[in-house]
Amino acid sequence: MEILHVSAECYPVAKAGGLGDVVGALPKYLNDAGHIAKVVMPMYRTKFLYENKWEVVHKGSAYLGNTWFDYTIIKESNNKLGFDLYLVDINGLLDREKVYGYDDDTERFTCFQIAVVDWVSSWKHKPDIIHVHDHHTALIPFMLKYSYPYQQLAGIPTVLTIHNAQYQGWMDWEKSDYIPHWDGWKWGMLDWNNAINPLAAGIRAAWKVTTVSWSYLHELRQESNGLESLFEYEKGKCVGILNGIDTVVWDPEKDSYLKDHFSIETMAAGKRTNKEALCEEFGLNPDKPLFVFIGRLVGEKAADLLPRAIGDSLYFMDQRMNFLVLGSGEPHVEAELADMRSYWMGYYNSRIGYNEQLSHKMYAGADFLLMPSRVEPCGLNQMYSMRYGTVPLVRRTGGLRDTVLDIGEPGGYGICFNQASVGDITHAVYRAVELYDDQLKFDSVRRKLMSLDFSWDRSAQQYIDVYNSLLS
Ligand code: ADP
Ligand code: GLC
Repeated sequence: MEILHVSAECYPVAKAGGLGDVVGALPKYLNDAGHIAKVVMPMYRTKFLYENKWEVVHKGSAYLGNTWFDYTIIKESNNKLGFDLYLVDINGLLDREKVYGYDDDTERFTCFQIAVVDWVSSWKHKPDIIHVHDHHTALIPFMLKYSYPYQQLAGIPTVLTIHNAQYQGWMDWEKSDYIPHWDGWKWGMLDWNNAINPLAAGIRAAWKVTTVSWSYLHELRQESNGLESLFEYEKGKCVGILNGIDTVVWDPEKDSYLKDHFSIETMAAGKRTNKEALCEEFGLNPDKPLFVFIGRLVGEKAADLLPRAIGDSLYFMDQRMNFLVLGSGEPHVEAELADMRSYWMGYYNSRIGYNEQLSHKMYAGADFLLMPSRVEPCGLNQMYSMRYGTVPLVRRTGGLRDTVLDIGEPGGYGICFNQASVGDITHAVYRAVELYDDQLKFDSVRRKLMSLDFSWDRSAQQYIDVYNSLLS
């Protein structure tokens, strides 16, 4: 079968977080399973765009409200990613450096979705499934069902995967004419609390909805930024499918970002070499346990708790450990994490910004990874860290609950806690230091981590089952 993924991100073309990783990996695994998976995304001005060869496959035009716009679809010529990759070029609107964060994001992503639907309507053989991701593409299931110009596509089954329900893409009703001429009787499908809510519209209009872990699906019915009753009402069409990780990109034996590779057999020495290099770079002591945090510095990740949790751990446990933070996000958290450097010099350091290579070096060189998230739909960091023999410290929520088992339980391999609070994080750090001091146990936990299988194989099959259920 042929599946078209529509997404705002796809690694390595453009990535702001885990969505990019998932859309860059899942299609490869669907192809390996004998299907044809393609990805279409906006054409941003990224390095990948300039470094690769492209051919024009389609040109078209459409309306956004009263504004006529032209779009061009280009295709990467050498199948570099292991699947067909298409970019939508809309002059002046999508071709920017960042993926999100512009005042006209509503216009940008609505035009993108219209261009995709318009383009697909020109295909001779239509895709069997259209799979959209998050609110930036969640109006597509509605457009296919209820926009008159695209009625010929109404029979194509749609799947909406929710990676993060916090962001819903809210639009003023004044912008309702952005959506290509649609059946006015269906306004209730778009509305949530007197605004157009693309995510809610996607949940209602998609044939099937998936979330990126089982626990997250369950939690959304209790807490989903206002959509709780909708998740309860639509539970029959929702299913949780845990993300996998791309074990080719994330492979400690071959990782192109690392100088020193290691396997499960050479784990202790290999990680030590990586740790020494990292500690050297950041002025830390490699003989102490190294805790890292990698991620968006936002409330969902509980990044605001890091300064106190790190300060308290260093203070109350006599600087028996080191911390290194990599991330960007809320300005006050960035500032606090930068300011702390001089106070805890030699024990703590941070790099504010986004740095793919450094993240790989940190997964490889760290002893422990902190993830105290308040909300974590799936979380990939903990899976990357485990693949690199780094013990995750996670709050029991969403995908973290589904992927990490506490060392206190039979067969356990991580450190789990219940609250996103300074006290719980500090206590988890204390337990981690105890584990580190018991070298034999520490090594056996790390080897266990490296033997776990978080690859996409199983999850890709679950998506295929979902697609098949819609086609039969
Ligand atoms: P989310 O998508 O909510 O940010 P995930 O755990 O699913 O969380 O994925 C985060 C991805 O982004 C991982 O690949 C992680 O390594 C990467 N990442 C996050 N922040 C940074 C950063 N500052 N530099 C490099 N990589 C980062
Ligand atoms: C979102 C979630 C994260 C998840 C990622 C990929 O960004 O916040 O938990 O891992 O999407 O699905």
